Amino acid sequence: MFERDLLKDHVVLITGGGTGLGLAMATRLSSLGADLFLVGRRQEPLEKAAAGLIAAGGRCGFATCDVRDYAAVDAAIAAAEAQFGRVTTLINNAAGNFIARTETLSPNAFTAVVGIVLNGTFHCTLALGKRWIAARQSGTILNIVATYTETGSGFVVPSACAKSGVLAMTRSLAVEWARHHIRLNAVAPGPFPTEGAWSRLLPSAEYEEQLKRMHPMKRFGRHEELANLVAFLVSPQADYINGECVAIDGGVRLRSGSGFSHLVDLPDSAWDAMEAARKAAAARER
Ligand code: COA
Repeated sequence: MFERDLLKDHVVLITGGGTGLGLAMATRLSSLGADLFLVGRRQEPLEKAAAGLIAAGGRCGFATCDVRDYAAVDAAIAAAEAQFGRVTTLINNAAGNFIARTETLSPNAFTAVVGIVLNGTFHCTLALGKRWIAARQSGTILNIVATYTETGSGFVVPSACAKSGVLAMTRSLAVEWARHHIRLNAVAPGPFPTEGAWSRLLPSAEYEEQLKRMHPMKRFGRHEELANLVAFLVSPQADYINGECVAIDGGVRLRSGSGFSHLVDLPDSAWDAMEAARKAAAARER
């Protein structure tokens, strides 16, 4: 399936591509012959990631951009086109999330997460979709969602709302834009350790262990497992898969149900301690 040069002549723009799962996907796609264009908010990780891909023999460019800003998204796509001539594939991976009791959130906290995940995905999708349709060019879009789009999830409510919106967008446009030869799918990853998500979503080492114990396979996902699924879905081999959402979580959603909702058992004192620890860590970072 993963033949050499599977993705030759593909130009993949990936948001949040400088770190974590975004970088893992970029690395795999690059190894299969794709040109990569990484988009993210911070210059330094993008620079480092691009240098790594180029050192490994790939072709890669990058642009800083906050996906909440449509003009910045448009400029980043123009930069990708200037470098590679065109973009063939979009991976909407950039996300924001944190675990919190919903009654403690400010309206701005909700807006921050929804702005990145839902508006950001729409901005990139719209900017590229318009270009593809005008140029009569085919395109592929892959959206990273979450398994809790099926059930909702307590304690990550802004993310659950936003990811469910992204899934609705995926399914809606899969039908609307099929006549333009634009294909959209989603992937719903379960627990894959990354620095960004782990520090925001797993309150303690104890909780991490508990999560692993609850997992039917007793392990978390490996980055290459997600990257291989994504490589298949964006490749021509998956040309008839459209409007689909593939969960990749080792089956844990079928056991635990709904994302982080099991945290209803956590006492308020544990939440207070976790929030104090997070604020202290944020103060140290500043
Ligand atoms: N709990 C409660 N509220 C939080 C929070 C937390 N852990 N982290 C941020 N917020 C609130 C802030 O207090 C702020 O609200 P306020 O202005 O009313 O005080 C609001 O969210 C925006 O925070 P800010 O840090 O100014 O926004 P940002 O746009 O720089 O950051 C986030 C966006 C909040 C999503 C941030 O966590 C982020 O940038 N994450 C990026 C990567 C990521 O989340 N990856 C994991 C994906 S699983």
